[in-house]
Amino acid sequence: MSESAAQEIPMSRRQLLSFVTGGAIAATTAATLYPVVLYFLPPSTAGGGEGVAAKDKEGKDISVSKLLAAATPGEPVLTLGLDVNGGDATYIVINDQKEIANFGINAVCTHLGCVVPWDNGAKQFKCPCHGSVYNADGGLERGPAPQPLALVKATVSDDKVLIAPWTEQDFRCTDLWCNKDPYWVK
Ligand code: FES
Repeated sequence: MSESAAQEIPMSRRQLLSFVTGGAIAATTAATLYPVVLYFLPPSTAGGGEGVAAKDKEGKDISVSKLLAAATPGEPVLTLGLDVNGGDATYIVINDQKEIANFGINAVCTHLGCVVPWDNGAKQFKCPCHGSVYNADGGLERGPAPQPLALVKATVSDDKVLIAPWTEQDFRCTDLWCNKDPYWVK
């Protein structure tokens, strides 16, 4: 064996050792972090779907068939959903055909956090605390609120409404406010 070959072999062993050690550290780190990551993911409470099931005020999963049977076309229904804006009060949006829209609206006013009621006559959300007004999509129509109501994703699965974070572009623009990047995604 030449001198240069004899020097190469220990180098290869060192590299192999550091590779194996590095792999073991990575595997240990992954095993440690896995439950931590799981903790921060929203639990899925309905088969095969994505997100948390919207709940009634008693904390029970909402039944889509019962909700639609009692719903008025165009009138959103207040439920408990996902805490994306300092509170989990969430409107499920019912369209004029009495179907559930693919987005829900977080009901927490972006001014000082009051839950904003729906005015079915005006077809607007009107905050009783300081008078902010939002349109039927939660778009900002009148301050002092600085931003529209936050959006969430809504999908129907196994007679439940699953609520998940809305991370796509904000589709709402009003004269008062327009920003395509969802402000509630940190
Ligand atoms: S909390 Fe809604 S306007 Fe102030």
